[in-house]
Amino acid sequence: MAYRWKNDLTAADVTPYDAFLNRRQLIAGAAAGLGLGAIAAGQAHATADARALEPNTWEEITSYNNFYEFGTDKGDPARYAHEMTTDPWSIEIDGMVDNPGTYDFKDIMSSMTIEQRIYRLRCVERWAMVIPWNGFELADLLNMVGVQESAKYVAFETLARPSEMRGLRYNVIDWPYVEGLRLDEAMHPLTIMATGLYDKPMPNQNGAPLRLVVPWKYGYKSIKSVVRITLTDKEPPTAWGKYSSNEYGFYSNVNPNVDHPRWSQAYEQRVGGGLLARRTPTLMFNGYEKEVASLYEGMDLVKYH
Ligand code: MTE
Repeated sequence: MAYRWKNDLTAADVTPYDAFLNRRQLIAGAAAGLGLGAIAAGQAHATADARALEPNTWEEITSYNNFYEFGTDKGDPARYAHEMTTDPWSIEIDGMVDNPGTYDFKDIMSSMTIEQRIYRLRCVERWAMVIPWNGFELADLLNMVGVQESAKYVAFETLARPSEMRGLRYNVIDWPYVEGLRLDEAMHPLTIMATGLYDKPMPNQNGAPLRLVVPWKYGYKSIKSVVRITLTDKEPPTAWGKYSSNEYGFYSNVNPNVDHPRWSQAYEQRVGGGLLARRTPTLMFNGYEKEVASLYEGMDLVKYH
């Protein structure tokens, strides 16, 4: 990669947790003093705009999750993901690579550059958060193992260990959870393997010890707790695509103009924030249009949704 992407959201945007709570109390206090009408009519707009770039709290990010291996309720991952053993952890990297093999997570960590990336996350269900991830560029890992000329796609697979993942008792989807990217998407500098959040190791419910994050695509592309990465020349199957291909396409780029067959994607709802939470228009490519639109030049984004 010729360049490194620069955060548009930086560490300065991350309010330390305590300060954030204090500020919320201040705002709540002001609202109580002025009456709810005042905050709704006046202040709320300015504050809501500031919130657009303000990361969600640790509490929000780690208690409202999708990780169906532990159940389908938003609280199930926080309740049950601690049952998953994440140490030791290794990742099988195979297919069209020069150095296939089993890579220990700790060895990968010691050879990668870990940085903070504050990204928007937009779930296909319409909820959205801003998350301060820590991680490394997937391109760095792929370059380390050596991608062969013939490779065109990257396939990913999540751990499937029934003794530690109670959700696997139910055939909600066909386990293991699998996902895929086109090689150029995988090599894009925005695409990271996240290994932590708020400078702490990745909590199990968020996909410990490492999970994919592709910020311009619906959240289900960002597969958690990865145990296998395969370079291939064929478009790989995806967990949700196997479930319903017309609802969950391979690309799944966030797009306000392409609705899910059962709901509109024009708007999203920020998780958390209480009084300040609001519905906002969905952004093309989740706000990363400048960075990624060129990947899809000339493509019919309705057909290749
Ligand atoms: N990965 C696996 N293995 N299993 C899942 O159920 N859910 C996806 C994605 N990755 C999921 C997964 C969905 S739908 C979303 S929106 C994000 O994880 C949520 O990530 P978060 O819980 O860290 O916010």
